[in-house]
Amino acid sequence: MDTGVLYCNDNLERLVEFPSESVDLIYLDPPFFTNRHYEVIWGDEAEVRSFEDRWEGGVQHYIGWMKPRVAEMRRVLKPTGTLYLHCDPHANHHLRVMLDDIFGPKRFLNEIVWHYQTSGGAPKKTLIRNHDTIFRYAKGKARDVTWTAPREPWPEKTLKKWQRDEEGRIYHIHNDTGKRYYINPDGKLMDDVWDITLAARSKERLGWPTQKPEALLQRIIEASSNEGDIVLDPFCGCGTTVAVAERMKRRWIGIDISPTAITVMGRRLWNQSRCVPTVVDVPDSESALRRLKPFEFQNYIINALNGTHSPKKSGDMGIDGFWFFTKDPIQVKQSEHPVGRNVVDNFETAMRRGKYDTGYIVAFSFTKDAVEEVARAKGDGFHIKLIRVKEVMLQTKRPGNPLAKFGPQPEGEVVPLPPMRKTTEMPSAMELIESDRGETA
Ligand SMILES: C[S@@+](CC[C@H](N)C(=O)[O-])C[C@H]1O[C@@H](n2cnc3c(N)ncnc32)[C@H](O)[C@@H]1O
Repeated sequence: MDTGVLYCNDNLERLVEFPSESVDLIYLDPPFFTNRHYEVIWGDEAEVRSFEDRWEGGVQHYIGWMKPRVAEMRRVLKPTGTLYLHCDPHANHHLRVMLDDIFGPKRFLNEIVWHYQTSGGAPKKTLIRNHDTIFRYAKGKARDVTWTAPREPWPEKTLKKWQRDEEGRIYHIHNDTGKRYYINPDGKLMDDVWDITLAARSKERLGWPTQKPEALLQRIIEASSNEGDIVLDPFCGCGTTVAVAERMKRRWIGIDISPTAITVMGRRLWNQSRCVPTVVDVPDSESALRRLKPFEFQNYIINALNGTHSPKKSGDMGIDGFWFFTKDPIQVKQSEHPVGRNVVDNFETAMRRGKYDTGYIVAFSFTKDAVEEVARAKGDGFHIKLIRVKEVMLQTKRPGNPLAKFGPQPEGEVVPLPPMRKTTEMPSAMELIESDRGETA
């Protein structure tokens, strides 16, 4: 079993290839059955690729989508292994029933309430929703699971009431029997409500909307695995699980369908531990880039050029992003056919309206007409540069590029993460669905 690997795939495709009973711990934080906008990361649509399958048919479709994945997860777990499924209130009742079906109700171990603080406004008719649920299931019998019970410090108030013997050990005396009871010096056993908040301004935050706190993953990994064990996160997002597992000397495997997620995780692992993951199936050829969904493609190109995304959601007169330093506009075209004169004309109009004198069009290839049109536009004072995807890909090979291969950087410097997009800049649901169908860009 290869570990230290990030797979850029639909996890089902990968899971079916993993050997049975090979993994010690699985933590999964799947896309919630909720407002799909929430899932859009850096404007990358990969998170919602299966939108139509999962959402259009309602919650049963969502569960139908999850079920074969979780069944595979159970198969790959060792008999001593544990699965933690993280979910919000939208579908947790359905997910619990699904887990009972797959694991058997007897394998249910805990319903953990992860309670956090938020700074959002007060809802009018409901209580403030400040928790998620994490279901914990065992592959085998509860007595066989790998487990180190999490503990927390004894409360000061309680400690004060208790006494110490000559060796400094703390005890209390039972009211009825008068017997001494020594307390565990490692702390009090934790219950199933965990209070952990990832502060809005925490340094840990990478900008991933669904990012989970490292302290949460640390508790799970500490409780349900030992050093050297294999930890799998099949929906690993910006890589909280793999980053914590790496620090805690576990072997790990991450899967995420989004190329942006893989880039972020590679960088996170490098910045944190100088760890260079093996990356599998991230698009790294022209043909793979041609297969990307339009928004993913656009995202890839703008990131590769170290650019910033257009603050307008889409259709900003053909301007998709801006050159990082000069703020010159960039248009990205994924079209299979060479880009022709009309695209250059339209882009010139957009530049005129936006009062830009320099701009870039990125495409796989350009017609001779397009090149001639660029020469003509130059006469009118518009400097349009035609960039081939091949050239962009060369950029990504340069150290320091946001999409450069992970690994030793000059002087071991900290590498930048792709720029984050604000909610207002993200594509709308309709645009994503159109993009899913290949109708955009
Ligand atoms: C809720 S986020 C996970 C966040 C993660 N726990 C963290 O701390 O960053 C869900 C992730 O699942 C990924 N995803 C969605 N569908 C997927 C699939 N079929 N296979 C693998 N990953 C998928 C998305 O790209 C997204 O990054």
